Amino acid sequence: MSVTLATPASLLTVFGATGDLARRMLLPSLYSLQAERLLPEDMRILGTARSELDREGFAQLVAASIQQRIPAHERSEDALRGLLERLDYLPASADDDASMAALAARVQALRAGDVLYHMSTAPKFYGPACQALAAHGAAGPGTRVMLEKPIGKDLASAIAINDAVARAFDEARVYRVDHYLGKEGVQNLIALRFGNALFEPLWNARHIEQVQITVAETVGVEGRGDYYDEAGALRDMLQNHLLQLLCLVAMEPPARFDPSAVRNEKIKVLRSLRPIDAGNVATESVAGQYTAGAIDGAAVPGYMDELGRPSRTETFVALRAHVDNWRWSGVPFYLRTGKRLPARSTEIYLQFRKVPYSIFGGAAAADMRPNGLLIKLQPEERIELDLMSKTPGLDRQGLRLSQVALDLDFHQEFSSARRRIAYERLYLDAIEGNGTLFVRRDETEAAWQWVDAIAAGWRNTGMLPRPYPAGTWGPGTAISLVDRSGHGWRE
Ligand code: BG6
Repeated sequence: MSVTLATPASLLTVFGATGDLARRMLLPSLYSLQAERLLPEDMRILGTARSELDREGFAQLVAASIQQRIPAHERSEDALRGLLERLDYLPASADDDASMAALAARVQALRAGDVLYHMSTAPKFYGPACQALAAHGAAGPGTRVMLEKPIGKDLASAIAINDAVARAFDEARVYRVDHYLGKEGVQNLIALRFGNALFEPLWNARHIEQVQITVAETVGVEGRGDYYDEAGALRDMLQNHLLQLLCLVAMEPPARFDPSAVRNEKIKVLRSLRPIDAGNVATESVAGQYTAGAIDGAAVPGYMDELGRPSRTETFVALRAHVDNWRWSGVPFYLRTGKRLPARSTEIYLQFRKVPYSIFGGAAAADMRPNGLLIKLQPEERIELDLMSKTPGLDRQGLRLSQVALDLDFHQEFSSARRRIAYERLYLDAIEGNGTLFVRRDETEAAWQWVDAIAAGWRNTGMLPRPYPAGTWGPGTAISLVDRSGHGWRE
């Protein structure tokens, strides 16, 4: 059920329309929606950025991005023409009022109903751009705005941005993007938890021993050094993607699948996170920075070489988090993310408690492993349930047990379904005015508050990132972090 009074947008205005995110993700997503005829029939798309392009120049940029990003067998002349026909472009800059006045006038001329703005620029422009739209009469009823992450770099800057945006758009009209929420596998986690009766009775501290959330990347900083060096893994990935995954794993069942109900449950999780600060940062967190190494057999430079200057920014972070509430009391949530790790892998792993008593003696007792549920989100989508089973045989030397996996591979099961870019889903929802898969202001700010304490803890105790060679799973201390509680990272 979607609770919304909005009508589908008649105009989508993309700020930063010539930028990297637009070319890699946004424009290809709009193309795919066009190809499947999912965009509202008459919706226009207005691109804006500083670049002095005209409509024709923007159309060429869009066509080039489609050519590059959409595989040939999925491209059609028809769909491309359909997309290009929707386009318009006007250069503008949030700090140039005349250009914003002209943009607002173009918006008013093109709209035939609701307007969706999408801010895909540096966050410092969000407030000024929103306020300029309001000042020129283009932010009133029937308008809404999508904001890209990061919303600031700490709690104070996030509040400043949110306040500035709120002066033009009330909260119900603000759609904060966390593109992980647009991923099919992430929504499937919600389906797994709340569409099956099987797991809920076990989904608590009585039955779950530990939870691990890993978002591992093989890439380095890829030309985004200036942004990344200010952010680091804690702000770039953990504050948003990993904490959103943690919320979906740990939250109570929402009363409905609608924006308020889901976000009311997520915020409770964020507010239950036990603080990690100067007092415990040394034992509960690990920061790392990659040095030269090899990924898939190819030599890659270290972070500081890539950046071209010395840096104390972490490219890896691992935490032992606790959700202090009735459901999760005492269960460690291990979170880790890093760049230049050995494999691209996003997964959530829940390890159940071991059997209360083993009836098997001898070798079988030693074979015994706890049950586990693996929710793999990337690179493939897969759910695996690890169970103990009898090893086939006549057991002349005694019964033996083996761990086997019940494996549900969604690509095989739904092989006809195309893998979508997360933005396809997010665009459609925002165009239709459904905010369920977007992040509310209080969530962003609670996440910053928690993450700020960790960053301050590192600063105040002088804790520096430890080096790890590219192509390894982070500093050795990340292993001792879980080892100390008698656990091990899932390999
Ligand atoms: C972005 C981060 O939010 O997510 C990037 O800024 C990161 O540093 C990216 O590479 C990862 O997204 P995905 O969809 O490739 O897992």
